[in-house]
Amino acid sequence: MTAIMSRLAVSHPGGHYDVLIGTELLPELRTLTGIAGPVALVTDSNVGPLYAEQCPPADCVITIPAGEQHKTLATVNRIYDELLEAGIDRGGTVFALGGGVVGDVAGFAAATFMRGVGLVQVPTTLLAMVDASVGGKTGVDKPQGKNLVGAFKQPVAVLADLSTLQTLPSVELACGLAEVVKHGLIAVPEIIRDLEAGEGHTSPQRTFGRLAPMVATAIGVKRDIVQEDPFEQERRAVLNLGHTFAHAIEQTTQYRIRHGQAVAIGLVAAADLSATLNHCSLDLVGRVESLLVRLGLPVRIPDGITSDELLKAMRTDKKRWAGVLRFILLREIGDVFISEDVPETAVRETLGRLSQEMG
Ligand SMILES: NC(=O)c1ccc[n+]([C@@H]2O[C@H](COP(=O)([O-])OP(=O)(O)OC[C@H]3O[C@@H](n4cnc5c(N)ncnc54)[C@H](O)[C@@H]3O)[C@@H](O)[C@H]2O)c1
Ligand SMILES: [Zn+2]
Repeated sequence: MTAIMSRLAVSHPGGHYDVLIGTELLPELRTLTGIAGPVALVTDSNVGPLYAEQCPPADCVITIPAGEQHKTLATVNRIYDELLEAGIDRGGTVFALGGGVVGDVAGFAAATFMRGVGLVQVPTTLLAMVDASVGGKTGVDKPQGKNLVGAFKQPVAVLADLSTLQTLPSVELACGLAEVVKHGLIAVPEIIRDLEAGEGHTSPQRTFGRLAPMVATAIGVKRDIVQEDPFEQERRAVLNLGHTFAHAIEQTTQYRIRHGQAVAIGLVAAADLSATLNHCSLDLVGRVESLLVRLGLPVRIPDGITSDELLKAMRTDKKRWAGVLRFILLREIGDVFISEDVPETAVRETLGRLSQEMG
């Protein structure tokens, strides 16, 4: 039975929308969003066969191949063609049913098709629920790098149906938990304490009763920050905790490491760097590391990657501001800040400690 467990209002410069968190929401997508016009359901080749039929009938169902390698302009172009073929016009709405890849690619198509049609995000991974579906960023990758082309596109609504997490592979669930930990470290010590008290990364995490409040709290962290800084001019950068390291690890491993796994390593690196610079205690580094290990996440830089390669990747990351290496550092759980004057020697110390050869 459809049950709404939480509702969070998100405001942005052009208006506001609700994030609904609950179970068995898919059959009620239209009623819950109040959308009566033409609908295009965009999903991927894993999620479509599992969940498209549970959704109300759409004017067209567009299934893109699953995987980050398909988060491209070519896929967007295919979506445009299918929208045109189905006769979707400016009054239409795109429902993005899937993980962050579907959300980003379908969101970008919705932002640009006919100069913008409606968008409803229906995230089906934990990562997309707590991070990608909220905040209005959409985009695609280029061979030169991730998320290099994109647009801000605020959804009309976000519907996070926790029932869909039943089929999510454990490794993907763990990746989502890495971003939940990130949100906890940024702003909510209770998230960290709850995860530390939990059963680890096995299936009990999927008990909706436990997951629902945590998902709502984690989304709340993102909501509060994007409301404060909708176009990522300043404060929103704290959401990149661990991400300077994570992006470098993803890039140097040619994306063989999943984003959430790279974020886990990056969170330990950010804590270690903060301790190296005397901003936080070594105990905090140990605490972050043990929690991530418990959740089934990696905490060491993969074999065969050198500090030089990682530093080079960090210098080309688009999150760099005006040529300076920018890191988000921790004072304690719930207290993070942006630093632009981190000496390279300190970064090298951290990378050395986190390299498997030395760890
Ligand atoms: N726009 C933003 O603000 C933002 C924020 C964070 C991440 N992102 C983007 O999100 C993407 C990562 O998202 P992701 O981790 O959800 O990856 P994903 O979309 O690739 O999903 C991971 C895998 O799980 C499968 N899957 C999805 N839901 C499932 C379900 N319920 N049951 C079974 N299988 C399911 C997918 O088909 C895919 O194979 C990246 O491209 C990243 O750049 C965007
Ligand atoms: Zn992330």
